[in-house]
Amino acid sequence: MSSDLEAVRRARVGILISGRGSNMVALADAVREERIPNAEIAIVISDKTDAAGLDKAKERGIETLVIERGGRKREEHDREIVAALKAENVDLVCLAGYMRVLSREFIAAYRGRILNIHPSLLPAFPGLDAQRQALEHGVRSTGCTVHFVDETLDGGPVIAQRTVPVCEADTVESLSARILAEEHRLYPETVSVVLSQVANKE
Ligand code: GRF
Repeated sequence: MSSDLEAVRRARVGILISGRGSNMVALADAVREERIPNAEIAIVISDKTDAAGLDKAKERGIETLVIERGGRKREEHDREIVAALKAENVDLVCLAGYMRVLSREFIAAYRGRILNIHPSLLPAFPGLDAQRQALEHGVRSTGCTVHFVDETLDGGPVIAQRTVPVCEADTVESLSARILAEEHRLYPETVSVVLSQVANKE
């Protein structure tokens, strides 16, 4: 018999970071405020011991783990990360400033369940320094993209995008800040939509 009191299992989100972690904070705050409903942040994993985002996660009572590459092959490093995600029963993996390309094995383990946010309107300006690339190209608008991660660099299916204007006086810093503010809105909104679609299929 089903009842309203029956516990709905919350989707468990694992977040991978390498640095500042502001998108991780945006996701964590959205989960806490139920803007991403029926979800919890299971773990934040960093490949860098000094990632500033680690303290921000701890301050929010989120479990953290550092798994450094430490001269190992990508596959070996990724295997340890996937094992940690599986041990935490993670359903959805969100890359948030995670600065490594994932191995095929990692992608296969979570196919269709790994998201990334990138500071451009993909397929324009993939890779590093997307904001600088946009300025150097002289585009009038750029933005941010949330996409599924596949074997290509920033090339997986696009889920959502938001446009940000480029101003005449923009520097890399000012443009990056304007895009980042939009990232912090777009990523939680998109995770919420992706999770609701997964839940509807179950
Ligand atoms: C963001 O601009 C994101 O789009 C890119 O890396 C940056 C990470 O920033 N992938 P933060 O660590 O989330 O503050």
